[in-house]
Amino acid sequence: MPAVSFRFTVNGSAVRVAAAADTPLLDVLRNHLGLRGAKFGCGLEQCGCCLVLIEGKPEKSCGKALATVAGKAVVTIEGLGTRERPHPLQQAFLDEQAGQCGYCLPGILISAKALLDENPAPSRAEIATALDDNICRCGSQVRIIRAVALAARRMRAGEVP
Ligand code: FES
Ligand code: FES
Repeated sequence: MPAVSFRFTVNGSAVRVAAAADTPLLDVLRNHLGLRGAKFGCGLEQCGCCLVLIEGKPEKSCGKALATVAGKAVVTIEGLGTRERPHPLQQAFLDEQAGQCGYCLPGILISAKALLDENPAPSRAEIATALDDNICRCGSQVRIIRAVALAARRMRAGEVP
Protein backbone atom coordinates (compact mmCIF):
# COMPACT_ATOMS: atom_id res chain seq x y z
CA MET A 1 0.00 0.00 0.00
CA PRO A 2 1.25 3.53 -0.68
CA ALA A 3 2.11 5.80 2.22
CA VAL A 4 -0.66 8.17 3.24
CA SER A 5 -0.57 10.91 5.86
CA PHE A 6 -2.65 10.33 9.00
CA ARG A 7 -3.25 12.75 11.88
CA PHE A 8 -4.16 11.76 15.42
CA THR A 9 -3.04 12.55 18.95
CA VAL A 10 -0.66 10.57 21.12
CA ASN A 11 -0.46 11.35 24.82
CA GLY A 12 -2.12 14.69 24.17
CA SER A 13 0.16 15.84 21.36
CA ALA A 14 -0.93 16.09 17.73
CA VAL A 15 1.07 13.84 15.41
CA ARG A 16 1.12 13.23 11.67
CA VAL A 17 2.44 9.95 10.32
CA ALA A 18 2.97 9.01 6.69
CA ALA A 19 2.71 5.25 6.25
CA ALA A 20 0.61 2.59 4.59
CA ALA A 21 -2.94 2.58 5.91
CA ASP A 22 -2.67 -1.01 7.13
CA THR A 23 0.53 -0.44 9.14
CA PRO A 24 -0.06 -1.78 12.65
CA LEU A 25 -0.39 1.02 15.18
CA LEU A 26 2.23 -0.74 17.33
CA ASP A 27 4.80 -0.35 14.53
CA VAL A 28 3.87 3.31 14.13
CA LEU A 29 4.26 4.00 17.84
CA ARG A 30 7.56 2.18 18.18
CA ASN A 31 9.24 2.83 14.84
CA HIS A 32 7.81 6.13 13.62
CA LEU A 33 7.20 7.91 16.91
CA GLY A 34 9.92 6.36 19.08
CA LEU A 35 7.49 5.30 21.80
CA ARG A 36 8.83 1.91 22.83
CA GLY A 37 6.69 1.34 25.92
CA ALA A 38 4.06 -0.79 24.20
CA LYS A 39 5.70 -4.13 23.45
CA PHE A 40 5.51 -6.66 20.64
CA GLY A 41 4.69 -10.04 22.13
CA CYS A 42 2.56 -12.35 20.01
CA GLY A 43 1.50 -9.99 17.22
CA LEU A 44 -1.77 -11.92 17.20
CA GLU A 45 -3.90 -9.90 19.65
CA GLN A 46 -3.52 -12.56 22.33
CA CYS A 47 -0.96 -11.46 24.92
CA GLY A 48 -1.90 -7.86 25.72
CA CYS A 49 1.60 -6.41 26.02
CA CYS A 50 0.90 -3.97 23.14
CA LEU A 51 -2.21 -2.45 24.72
CA VAL A 52 -2.82 1.28 24.41
CA LEU A 53 -5.87 3.42 25.09
CA ILE A 54 -7.78 4.57 22.02
CA GLU A 55 -10.48 7.05 22.94
CA GLY A 56 -10.09 5.77 26.50
CA LYS A 57 -10.60 2.09 25.69
CA PRO A 58 -7.81 -0.51 25.87
CA GLU A 59 -6.98 -1.81 22.40
CA LYS A 60 -4.28 -4.16 21.13
CA SER A 61 -2.13 -1.96 18.97
CA CYS A 62 -0.58 -4.92 17.11
CA GLY A 63 -3.96 -5.52 15.50
CA LYS A 64 -5.03 -1.92 14.88
CA ALA A 65 -4.36 -0.52 11.45
CA LEU A 66 -3.01 3.01 11.39
CA ALA A 67 -5.99 4.21 9.32
CA THR A 68 -8.40 3.25 12.12
CA VAL A 69 -6.90 5.76 14.57
CA ALA A 70 -7.05 8.79 12.27
CA GLY A 71 -8.54 11.69 14.21
CA LYS A 72 -8.54 9.73 17.47
CA ALA A 73 -6.79 10.08 20.82
CA VAL A 74 -4.19 7.43 21.64
CA VAL A 75 -2.58 7.11 25.06
CA THR A 76 0.45 4.88 25.59
CA ILE A 77 2.21 3.87 28.77
CA GLU A 78 4.48 6.92 28.27
CA GLY A 79 1.38 9.08 28.77
CA LEU A 80 0.54 7.75 32.24
CA GLY A 81 3.27 9.32 34.32
CA THR A 82 6.93 10.20 34.48
CA ARG A 83 9.83 8.97 36.57
CA GLU A 84 9.49 12.14 38.65
CA ARG A 85 5.68 12.06 38.82
CA PRO A 86 4.55 8.45 38.40
CA HIS A 87 0.88 7.62 38.00
CA PRO A 88 -0.51 6.13 41.25
CA LEU A 89 -0.69 2.78 39.44
CA GLN A 90 2.98 2.97 38.55
CA GLN A 91 3.90 3.88 42.13
CA ALA A 92 1.79 1.02 43.50
CA PHE A 93 3.47 -1.45 41.13
CA LEU A 94 6.84 -0.26 42.39
CA ASP A 95 5.75 -0.47 46.03
CA GLU A 96 4.35 -3.97 45.60
CA GLN A 97 7.28 -5.08 43.41
CA ALA A 98 4.59 -6.25 40.99
CA GLY A 99 6.50 -7.74 38.11
CA GLN A 100 9.71 -9.56 37.34
CA CYS A 101 10.93 -9.09 33.77
CA GLY A 102 8.44 -6.26 33.24
CA TYR A 103 7.63 -7.11 29.64
CA CYS A 104 3.90 -7.45 30.28
CA LEU A 105 3.61 -4.40 32.52
CA PRO A 106 2.96 -1.63 29.96
CA GLY A 107 -0.11 -3.50 28.75
CA ILE A 108 -1.21 -4.40 32.26
CA LEU A 109 -0.92 -0.79 33.43
CA ILE A 110 -3.03 0.32 30.46
CA SER A 111 -5.72 -2.26 31.29
CA ALA A 112 -5.60 -1.21 34.94
CA LYS A 113 -5.91 2.48 34.08
CA ALA A 114 -8.95 1.80 31.90
CA LEU A 115 -10.48 -0.18 34.77
CA LEU A 116 -9.92 2.51 37.42
CA ASP A 117 -11.17 5.24 35.08
CA GLU A 118 -14.51 3.42 34.96
CA ASN A 119 -14.57 1.72 38.35
CA PRO A 120 -12.58 3.44 41.11
CA ALA A 121 -13.41 0.72 43.66
CA PRO A 122 -13.01 -2.61 41.88
CA SER A 123 -13.22 -5.91 43.73
CA ARG A 124 -10.42 -8.43 43.42
CA ALA A 125 -12.56 -10.39 40.95
CA GLU A 126 -13.21 -7.26 38.88
CA ILE A 127 -9.48 -6.51 38.73
CA ALA A 128 -8.75 -10.08 37.63
CA THR A 129 -11.45 -9.89 34.95
CA ALA A 130 -10.11 -6.55 33.67
CA LEU A 131 -6.69 -8.18 33.27
CA ASP A 132 -8.04 -11.25 31.47
CA ASP A 133 -6.50 -10.12 28.17
CA ASN A 134 -3.03 -9.72 29.69
CA ILE A 135 -0.59 -12.60 29.90
CA CYS A 136 2.21 -12.47 32.48
CA ARG A 137 4.65 -15.26 31.81
CA CYS A 138 6.55 -14.55 35.02
CA GLY A 139 3.55 -15.48 37.14
CA SER A 140 3.34 -12.12 38.92
CA GLN A 141 -0.46 -11.98 38.86
CA VAL A 142 -0.95 -12.02 42.63
CA ARG A 143 1.28 -9.00 43.20
CA ILE A 144 -0.12 -7.27 40.11
CA ILE A 145 -3.69 -7.56 41.41
CA ARG A 146 -2.52 -6.37 44.84
CA ALA A 147 -0.86 -3.35 43.24
CA VAL A 148 -3.98 -2.36 41.29
CA ALA A 149 -6.04 -2.61 44.48
CA LEU A 150 -3.47 -0.47 46.33
CA ALA A 151 -3.52 2.20 43.62
CA ALA A 152 -7.32 2.25 43.68
CA ARG A 153 -7.34 2.71 47.47
CA ARG A 154 -4.79 5.52 47.29
CA MET A 155 -6.63 7.27 44.48
CA ARG A 156 -9.93 7.09 46.35
CA ALA A 157 -8.22 8.54 49.42
CA GLY A 158 -6.78 11.36 47.33
CA GLU A 159 -3.23 10.28 48.08
CA VAL A 160 -0.60 10.95 45.47
CA PRO A 161 2.33 8.81 46.50
S1 FES B 1 1.59 -8.24 20.70
FE1 FES B 1 -0.41 -7.47 20.59
S2 FES B 1 -1.60 -8.82 21.78
FE2 FES B 1 0.38 -9.74 21.76
S1 FES C 1 6.61 -9.62 34.72
FE1 FES C 1 7.51 -10.87 33.18
S2 FES C 1 5.85 -11.28 31.83
FE2 FES C 1 4.93 -10.24 33.47
